[in-house]
Amino acid sequence: MVPNPSHFFLSFTLLLFLLSTKSSSQSTNLDPNQLKALRSLSVPTGKDPCSPLHKITTCDSSTPFHHLISLKLINCSSDVTLSQTSLKALSTLQDLQFINCPVSPIHFPSELSSNLQSFTCVNSLKKLTSIWLIRLRNVVSLTVSHVNVSASGPSIILNSIKNLHTVTISHANLKGVLPTRWHMNLTYVDLSANQLKGKIPSSLTELENLVHLNLSSNSLNGTIPNSFGNLLSLKNVSLASNALSGSIPKSIAAIPGLVHLDLGSNQLNGTVPKFISDMKELKYLNLERNNFKGVLPFNASFIKKLVVFKVGENSNLCYNHSTLSSKLKLGIAPCDKHGLPLSPPPPKEDFSNDTKDHEDDDSPPPKHEHGPSRVVFGVAIGLSSIVFLIIFLVLLSKCCK
Ligand SMILES: *[C@@H]1O[C@H](CO)[C@@H](O)[C@H](O)[C@H]1NC(C)=O
Ligand SMILES: *[C@@H]1O[C@H](CO)[C@@H](O)[C@H](O)[C@H]1NC(C)=O
Ligand SMILES: *[C@@H]1O[C@H](CO)[C@@H](O)[C@H](O)[C@H]1NC(C)=O
Ligand SMILES: *[C@@H]1O[C@H](CO)[C@@H](O)[C@H](O)[C@H]1NC(C)=O
Ligand SMILES: *[C@@H]1O[C@H](CO)[C@@H](O)[C@H](O)[C@H]1NC(C)=O
Ligand SMILES: *[C@@H]1O[C@H](CO)[C@@H](O)[C@H](O)[C@H]1NC(C)=O
Ligand SMILES: *[C@@H]1O[C@H](CO)[C@@H](O)[C@H](O)[C@H]1NC(C)=O
Ligand SMILES: *[C@@H]1O[C@H](CO)[C@@H](O)[C@H](O)[C@H]1NC(C)=O
Ligand SMILES: *[C@@H]1O[C@H](CO)[C@@H](O)[C@H](O)[C@H]1NC(C)=O
Ligand SMILES: *[C@@H]1O[C@H](CO)[C@@H](O)[C@H](O)[C@H]1NC(C)=O
Repeated sequence: MVPNPSHFFLSFTLLLFLLSTKSSSQSTNLDPNQLKALRSLSVPTGKDPCSPLHKITTCDSSTPFHHLISLKLINCSSDVTLSQTSLKALSTLQDLQFINCPVSPIHFPSELSSNLQSFTCVNSLKKLTSIWLIRLRNVVSLTVSHVNVSASGPSIILNSIKNLHTVTISHANLKGVLPTRWHMNLTYVDLSANQLKGKIPSSLTELENLVHLNLSSNSLNGTIPNSFGNLLSLKNVSLASNALSGSIPKSIAAIPGLVHLDLGSNQLNGTVPKFISDMKELKYLNLERNNFKGVLPFNASFIKKLVVFKVGENSNLCYNHSTLSSKLKLGIAPCDKHGLPLSPPPPKEDFSNDTKDHEDDDSPPPKHEHGPSRVVFGVAIGLSSIVFLIIFLVLLSKCCK
């Protein structure tokens, strides 16, 4: 008898299936203490926690028992409690995340604290202190957001954790001033939405590996350091919603890969520098709500190249209407011949006054007519076409039987 290839294929798949179910039921050879710890944290352990299908955990492949290396606790119930016993059992973890877990923080056993390389706490653990955080002395990546952090400032955290590459402490009511000493390995710094005060220290601009900087929504004042352009790796920066004054430093134009520049809602003044339009990678530019003055130095091709461009609410800034069309809706007034805004500045959005649109007869009538009667009319037409279609189909099916 010649073996049928499809039968062969079928039995082969069956064999694979049996093997895989066997190995998965067997490979719940997660360390029994860790299995117990997971249960005490209400992590469902019905499915093998070491299976790659289990999205919230990963394990190593040590024998005879696997050990957890990462654990993500998401949306845990408020009656979960952390205990020393369960955390001790979990001290092989390198990556621990709490997301929407309103559990009370406890002192982590020192073995867990020192093994963690990545720690995330988003809207979890009620509140944290700098003393608690700096026990995580080997973390490379620290993310704390939507949790209050009490500390005299970010310096103690950023200076005590020596290997930090990536740090986010945002929406944390963090007080104090920015550090004057920084670890050169920092690539990502997000201290947005806190209560930080004082100046941006020029020492920050020595971070030549920094790719991402977000200091938005604080109370920083003073000027942007002239050496800002030393941040040669920078791609995204937001200094928005602070009280920064002075002008945009020329050195910014030297940052070759800057994609996102958000300086909105400050008190920056002087003219908008033309060198910004020489930044080849720029896609997002926000200069709105400042005190810039004079003629906007950009041409339409630069503005159209940007994905986002905001410049409104700078009452002394204007655009040259012989080079830029009012259709760009920049939210600033056109200039008079002296380069001063012709008052009043146009509204930010075009709240079109229908009567006026029709008086202006050289422009074609707007295509999108909107009014309640038109909407009702459209719906009526749509509904009746559907009814006609149904009747037509019913008739068609009857006559063609
Ligand atoms: C957590 O809860 C939020 C909102 O309640 C929900 O959108 C999200 O999908 C949940 N995530 C998980 C992994 O259960
Ligand atoms: C943080 O503390 C402030 C008071 O300082 C409070 O209003 C706020 O609700 C707290 N936020 C969180 C996430 O606990
Ligand atoms: C920077 O990181 C490298 C490895 O990524 C490490 O060897 C070096 O000690 C770190 N330097 C500092 C100042 O932390
Ligand atoms: C910045 O704010 C501090 C208070 O936080 C104030 O003492 C200082 O004078 C301000 N500096 C400038 C340049 O406005
Ligand atoms: C900076 O942080 C704010 C608030 O946390 C956020 O809304 C904004 O998108 C961030 N900007 C960048 C460039 O990451
Ligand atoms: C950086 O900016 C770009 C352009 O605005 C944006 O698409 C991207 O998400 C930003 N990246 C981060 C990490 O904020
Ligand atoms: C910008 O504002 C500062 C004070 O905040 C002032 O000293 C300076 O003269 C202003 N510069 C310009 C060009 O208006
Ligand atoms: C618009 O400005 C950019 C940057 O300054 C320049 O490279 C380009 O040639 C200008 N385009 C026109 C049509 O003037
Ligand atoms: C506007 O642009 C035109 C043409 O480039 C130029 O002649 C004029 O001086 C400019 N006006 C102002 C106020 O800069
Ligand atoms: C529209 O413009 C006309 C005259 O230009 C004016 O009388 C009328 O009040 C305006 N209507 C609205 C809603 O602004």
